[in-house]
Amino acid sequence: MSKKAYINWKQIQAAQAKLKASVEADPWRLSYHQMPETGWLNDPNGAVQFDGVYHLYHQYVPQDPKGGATHWGHKTSTDMVHFKDEEIFMSPDQAFDQDGVYSGSAIVLNDKIHFFYTGNVKNEGDHDYTFSGREQHTVHVVSPDGFTIESREVIIPHSAYPEGFTDHIRDPKVFELNGKYYLILGARRRTNVGSILIYSSTNLYDWEYEGVFLEGDEDQGYMWECPDYFNVSGKDIAIFSPQGILPTTYNYHNPHAATYLTGQVNWEELKFQVEEDFRELDHGFDFYAPQTFEDDQGRRIMWVWMGIGDTQPEYNNPTIARGWQHAMALPRELNFEDGMLKQRPLVEYQTLRGQEQSYSLTELSSDTLRGEVYELLIDFDERPKDFELQLRQDTSVTYQDGELTLRHGESGYGRRKRTLPLESLSQLHIFSDTSSLEIFVNDGEAVFTSRVYPDANQDKIQITGNGTGKVTYWDLATTT
Ligand code: FRU
Repeated sequence: MSKKAYINWKQIQAAQAKLKASVEADPWRLSYHQMPETGWLNDPNGAVQFDGVYHLYHQYVPQDPKGGATHWGHKTSTDMVHFKDEEIFMSPDQAFDQDGVYSGSAIVLNDKIHFFYTGNVKNEGDHDYTFSGREQHTVHVVSPDGFTIESREVIIPHSAYPEGFTDHIRDPKVFELNGKYYLILGARRRTNVGSILIYSSTNLYDWEYEGVFLEGDEDQGYMWECPDYFNVSGKDIAIFSPQGILPTTYNYHNPHAATYLTGQVNWEELKFQVEEDFRELDHGFDFYAPQTFEDDQGRRIMWVWMGIGDTQPEYNNPTIARGWQHAMALPRELNFEDGMLKQRPLVEYQTLRGQEQSYSLTELSSDTLRGEVYELLIDFDERPKDFELQLRQDTSVTYQDGELTLRHGESGYGRRKRTLPLESLSQLHIFSDTSSLEIFVNDGEAVFTSRVYPDANQDKIQITGNGTGKVTYWDLATTT
C-alpha cells in the first residue's frame, strides 16, 4: 500500500525557485545574522553543540514568506558566527505532523542527539479559537549526527494530555538534572491562563506526567509558548513567550511578549517557586520565542527569533514582497548578575570587527561617524542627563528625564516608539546590520531588538547631548 503523501515537494521547490531572484537582489538581506534562504523563518529549535559543531534548527517555510506548515530548517557552525545552510532536517510529512513540524529542543545522550518537537495537526471541523480542532503530539526523534534520522515517534499523543486544557499544548523543552530527564510544555488552560506542564523520564523514551510546573493568572497571557528552564549563576530561571499578556506603562506593548521569571524549583514537588515578578526580555519590536542551550564552555547561550507572530496591524514588513521574512537576532550569552538576567552578544562576534575608530565624546563632531553595518560602543564616564543618538536614516535613541526611548521614522514601516525607565545610562552597545538594530544598554541590563528598513546610503551617525566618555566604532565584516 502506498503511503499517503502529506507534502508536495515539486510544488514547494517550484514556489521556492520563484522567490530566489528577488531574495538575492534584496539590499535588506542581513550581513551577519541568520536568515531563511527564502520564505519564512520563525522560532529557533533544537539548539545544541555536538562533537564541536553548533546546530541551529528553526521553523521554516521555504516557499512562502508569509508562513504555512513549518519544516525544521538547519544551519551549522563551528564558531557561532559563520553558519552553513544545511538540508531541511524535518518536514511536515507524517500523519502526526502534517500541518507543521512545530517547535522543540535537543538533548545529547550516549553520543546521539534526541530531539523533541510538537507535531501539529489541524483537523476539519471545530475551528473555535480555544478548541481549534488541533492535535499537538509530542514527538521524539533520535539522530546519530544531527543530519540523519534514526527514529521519529510520537511519545505523548495529544489524547494523553491532562484534563482542563485547550488544544494548545506544545513546544517541548527537555533538560537533565541529576541523571533524570524533564520535559516541559507550554499550555493554555480552558480558563485562558498560560501554564507550563512537566513530565519526567529516566531514559528519554518513557515519560510520566508530573503536573503543572508553573502557571500564571488571567492578566499574564492566555497561552505560554516556548517554555525554557535553566539554572545560571546559581539562579533558577523560567523563560516563556506569553500570548496576550496585558500591557503596563512601559512593558508588553507588542502583541505577544517574551518574559522571564526567577525563582527556585522544588525538585521534590516539581514546582517552580517564583521569587520575582515577570520581566520582559527585550524592549524593541522584534523578539519572540527564545531558546537557550549550554555549550562546552558552560555558557548559557540564547537564540531568539528577531520577529514576532501577529505583528501590529500598522506594521508592513517590506521584505515579504522580496520573497523572505524574519531572521534570528545575534546569539547572546546569559548571566544572572545584580538581581537580573543580563544579555551580552557572544564575544565571538568581535572577530568581525574591522579597524577600530575611537573618539572622546566631547571631540566628536556631528559629521565624524558614518556606517550601516557596524558595532558602536559608547562608554560614559560622566553619565548624561540628556543624550541623543541618531542613526540609520530616521531612528533615534534618546535618554531624557530618566527614560530611554527608541524611535523609528519611516524606516520602521509603521513601528514608532518604545520607552524604558532607566535610572542612569552608563553604556550603549549597538549592533547595526542592513535591516536590524540591537541596542544593548548598560552592559546587558536591557536590550532593544528591532528590524528597520532604511534606504541605501543612510549612514549618518550623530551624537548630541551631555555626558563624557569614549566612543568606539568598528565596521563589521559580512558572514554570508
Ligand atoms: C511560537 C510558535 C510555537 C509553535 C511555532 C509554530 O512562535 O507559535 O508555539 O510551535 O511557533 O511555528
